[in-house]
Amino acid sequence: MLFLGIDTSCDDTATAVFRDGRAVLANVSTNQDAFHAKFGGIVPEIASRQHLALLSAAVQDALERAEVSFGDLDGIAVTAGPGLIGSLVIGVASAKALAYATGLPLYGVNHLHGHIFAPFLERDEDPEYPFLALLVSGGHSQLVHVASPVDLRVIARTRDDAAGEAFDKTARLLGLPFPGGPGIDRLATAGDPTAIPFPRYRAERGSLDMSFSGIKTSVRYFLETPAGRAARPADVAASFQAAVVDVLVDRLARAAQEQPYRAAVLSGGVAANSALRAACLAWSERTGVPLLIPPPRYCTDNAAMIAAAADRQGSAVLADPRRLAADPNLAFALQPAVA
Ligand code: KG4
Ligand code: ZN
Repeated sequence: MLFLGIDTSCDDTATAVFRDGRAVLANVSTNQDAFHAKFGGIVPEIASRQHLALLSAAVQDALERAEVSFGDLDGIAVTAGPGLIGSLVIGVASAKALAYATGLPLYGVNHLHGHIFAPFLERDEDPEYPFLALLVSGGHSQLVHVASPVDLRVIARTRDDAAGEAFDKTARLLGLPFPGGPGIDRLATAGDPTAIPFPRYRAERGSLDMSFSGIKTSVRYFLETPAGRAARPADVAASFQAAVVDVLVDRLARAAQEQPYRAAVLSGGVAANSALRAACLAWSERTGVPLLIPPPRYCTDNAAMIAAAADRQGSAVLADPRRLAADPNLAFALQPAVA
């Protein structure tokens, strides 16, 4: 099976060509950061206009790099949601037009499922089911019980900010450019993660939910104190990062204690974070639960993961090219296919 993948859920115009469930023949991502950086965050209107300007060329580019043409493809996989409505619409409308014109089957994929299948890219084997997924991105932070490619259940989520959002907001407090995760990650390497004891959120008994806005607010208040003004930014970055990582690894560990998993995956943009990767790998070594983490290029938004999800989910995400609609609030659970 040869898929063209398209993802325009947020601010990356991403296309990919994906073969036989594993091989990424082309992975094109046109980063729009330069257009959004001066606003300190993603401006939805700019994102959708950029997708419109870039997407046709990005599709062409992926096909050329993979050295295939539309006639070689078996399907088109596109992110149907969740995401920014204006951004999603561009990808979905383009994919529908391409599917309609070529007669290729169209697959409407949940962006978050894409992140969950990202660790499968370019690997010899899939992890065994059921596996536990820790999905941490700019818009979401959740733990997912993956019983099969089409049976995915959220077992815990953040009650406020996503982990990536907390990184971005804290980076802003430290004067780092958007998106802030990579900047904090770099700065933290020179800092002491125990320098400032930022709070770790504990949910009530029986809940694995997370929260990150309190950590971010503590950083803000701390920076306004005399000690905060005197603190080394690297120490603040490292201490903030340690607090976020502690909460995430604590929930991963507790979820895996509650029920046995054959494997775990770490995915989403924040999975590129070096401290989080190291802490999750240490957990995996301690417990013997195999952990898969995609390389950083597949942690952040990409279209290869969307094709990988379509490949695994097959008919469950097959869509009618006349009917598929972009849905900014697309439900996480797959709806039973309508006969
Ligand atoms: O998955 P993604 O590319 O887009 C969404 O679907 O949200 O995630 C983007 C998020 C941003 O918040 C960015 O700051 C964060 O991932 N991120 C990182 C790192 N690289 C990207 N956060 C922490 N450390 C990193 N190295
Ligand atoms: Zn994403």
